[in-house]
Amino acid sequence: MIYADITGWGKCAPPAILTNADLSTFLDTDDAWIVSRTGMKERRISHVPVSDLAHVACARALAAAGKSAGDVDLIIFGSCTFDQMVPNASSRVQQLLAADNAACIDLNTACTSGMYALSVATAMIKAGSVKNALVIGAEVTSVLMDWSDRDVAVLFGDGAAAFFLEVKEEKSGVVAESLGCFGKNRDILDVTGWGLKYANKGLVLGETKWNFNGQEIFKRAVVGMSRACDIVLEKEGLTYEEIDLVIPHQANLRIIDALAKRMGASEEKVYINIHRYGNISAATTPMALVEALEEGRVAPESKLLLPAFGGGLTWSAHLLHWGDRIKPIGTTDVDLPPCDKTGLQLVQEIIAAKK
Ligand code: UT7
Repeated sequence: MIYADITGWGKCAPPAILTNADLSTFLDTDDAWIVSRTGMKERRISHVPVSDLAHVACARALAAAGKSAGDVDLIIFGSCTFDQMVPNASSRVQQLLAADNAACIDLNTACTSGMYALSVATAMIKAGSVKNALVIGAEVTSVLMDWSDRDVAVLFGDGAAAFFLEVKEEKSGVVAESLGCFGKNRDILDVTGWGLKYANKGLVLGETKWNFNGQEIFKRAVVGMSRACDIVLEKEGLTYEEIDLVIPHQANLRIIDALAKRMGASEEKVYINIHRYGNISAATTPMALVEALEEGRVAPESKLLLPAFGGGLTWSAHLLHWGDRIKPIGTTDVDLPPCDKTGLQLVQEIIAAKK
């Protein structure tokens, strides 16, 4: 049997930080509300396009796997904030990396995009279409945020994470998954002005309004992720006690708590980094896995459970068998250009540009 082992991992968190206090300078909100209702303390705002964040994360993932760009067979870029529709964003990453032998696919399932990309890459490796793949979850939501709407503006941030997958005969990488979508409820997370539906209709593309029914999304996130986790464990004949670490999508600390309660998972079995980044959409779960590795939370041969949820309303869960290596083989000098602005200054520029 063929598997797709994850042998490299990397992240790119843009340096400019937007704190809860920064948000309260232009929105009717405060740190106490945001922390108590979401668990978020700060998020990052990118000074570069999403492809540039993805490029740095990929360069780091390749270095961690000890591979060079010319080795890459396939790039799958999961996001819903691509710089352009044509040409696609993965071709920009290929160009920046000089990964000239790679096929390039863009994939959008909103917040679950990075995890769906992991499924597609794993399936293509297992099918023998490619021997390896770079998988990206990256998002720059800040440019398309409605910064006048406190219901959503406090929740999201920017960032990227990437993995390198390689064919392997021993059981490793994604060993079971469950993917689904509550399409009937797709309108409860709907962004007006973000897509071709809004072209030539007297609306300006990028002039966004978020129809975001937080409470209804919350309930479906808990149900969708729980269901996906149950299915995945059943497929592998495992119980929650046999999982070493749960690395969930980080949209709200209360959603994570509700999920953990249903699983009977103790605090130390659930990885959390929502306080640092908020919800980075497609990058959220991939970034959490990268940081869990960096912080020594993933032991060799661990069984990891990664549920995710997003617009669509898409849901997923992945069961990973980690290999024996938890340290990167190498590092890289590839980095973002310096940023001389604060997160608040970058957001003020976006608001001013929209006016
Ligand atoms: O990645 C996948 C997509 N996202 C999610 O999964 C998010 C799911 N939903 C949530 O995380 C939560 O529903 C929210 C964090 C969005 C909202 O939390 P909530 O406990 O459901 O709050 P609420 O919407 O019921 O609002 C409670 C109050 C309201 O005031 P009133 O009507 O009670 O006077 C809101 O207007 O809090 C108010 N409020 C705020 N107050 C201060 C809403 N946003 C804010 C804010 N600061 N930023």
